[in-house]
Amino acid sequence: MIRGNDPILLTPGPLTTSLATKAAMLRDWGSWDQSFNAITGSICRDLVDVVRGEATHVCVPLQGSGTFSVEAALANLVPRDGKVLVPQNGAYCQRILKILGYLGRAHAALDLPEDRHPTGAMVEEALRADPAITHVAQVHCETGTGILNPLPEIAAACARHGKGLIVDAMSSFGAIDIDVSRYPVDAVVAASGKCIEGVPGMGFVIARRAVLEKCQGNSHSLAMDLFDQWTYLQKTTQWRFTPPTHVVAAFRAALDQFLAEGGTPARGARYARNCAVLVEGMEALGLKPFLPRAIQAPVIVTFHAPDDPAYVFQAFYDRVKAKGYVLYPGKLTRVETFRVGCIGAIDENEMRNVVSAVGETLAEMGVRRAGRVREAAAG
Ligand SMILES: Cc1ncc(COP(=O)(O)O)c(C=O)c1O
Repeated sequence: MIRGNDPILLTPGPLTTSLATKAAMLRDWGSWDQSFNAITGSICRDLVDVVRGEATHVCVPLQGSGTFSVEAALANLVPRDGKVLVPQNGAYCQRILKILGYLGRAHAALDLPEDRHPTGAMVEEALRADPAITHVAQVHCETGTGILNPLPEIAAACARHGKGLIVDAMSSFGAIDIDVSRYPVDAVVAASGKCIEGVPGMGFVIARRAVLEKCQGNSHSLAMDLFDQWTYLQKTTQWRFTPPTHVVAAFRAALDQFLAEGGTPARGARYARNCAVLVEGMEALGLKPFLPRAIQAPVIVTFHAPDDPAYVFQAFYDRVKAKGYVLYPGKLTRVETFRVGCIGAIDENEMRNVVSAVGETLAEMGVRRAGRVREAAAG
């Protein structure tokens, strides 16, 4: 799908982008220019459509990596006296808890093992037990492991209890269906360099208009003030501060390709094929996925590191990279793992090729016990 001599990124963003997306960055844009501001407007409209929020939601773009937008959503949508429940099963859920600590917002974690997802019933029980909770913040696909958290049932639980729901959909938006017209969500947060396959540099918050309208004064920070960004954009069609113009232009091109491919169903299906080919191939090499298939999102797969003294992640990574594929380290504390992304402008051929590269690399390194699972070193 993409060609050139650059290695293929099998990482959850930045990821491999198409030539058309890269080429869109070859022009300079003025931030006051009407044609640039029209691009911003069209991107925002299309992003709202992806989650079917035309009747209820607005999109506020924000400069920075995905975390900036997650932080801005929490800072703006949760009032200063609010309290947030975070069903917690991985690194990005933990990041939300850390952000809430920085923001001085009260919070409670619903802790789960990294290979289990929360259910609507668990969330309801936690909401019943603590009436001070005003909001739930949920990571949709927990990229730390690749687990898919069940958004519709968690949204239904929040709705039954009248609580707001903020969803970090960073690695699921555009690949796994999100439909805010079917279940209530106050905010969906994602970024340019993930499943829409743009380049990194901007995030966005798709917020329920009726909620965002009441958020003036909640933000602790000028740069993170989504309410201000939104009202300024409405008034002027411009970003408040210098926009990442090349990123925006590339994102427009990426969105065009996303729509031409067939939107979320088609993109999700391509990633699902990538994931299936990867898992089958790696299992044939003896490597074990960390998650059972039923709860694995087709986004990134965590594999156990082989329990063989010949296996050293850095050497493994360097050798696979020399064959053209960039892998990702694991993010678990209990067991030693590595991750392989299924997203980006790649197809199942790339996945077959990376499996071959991994197989050759293990053989070169003399790793024989690929199927034995290694515990992580303490600390
Ligand atoms: C679930 C999730 N949340 C948030 C982020 C944001 O991270 P960053 O600020 O590095 O873009 C990521 C990035 O991969 C993610 O996967």
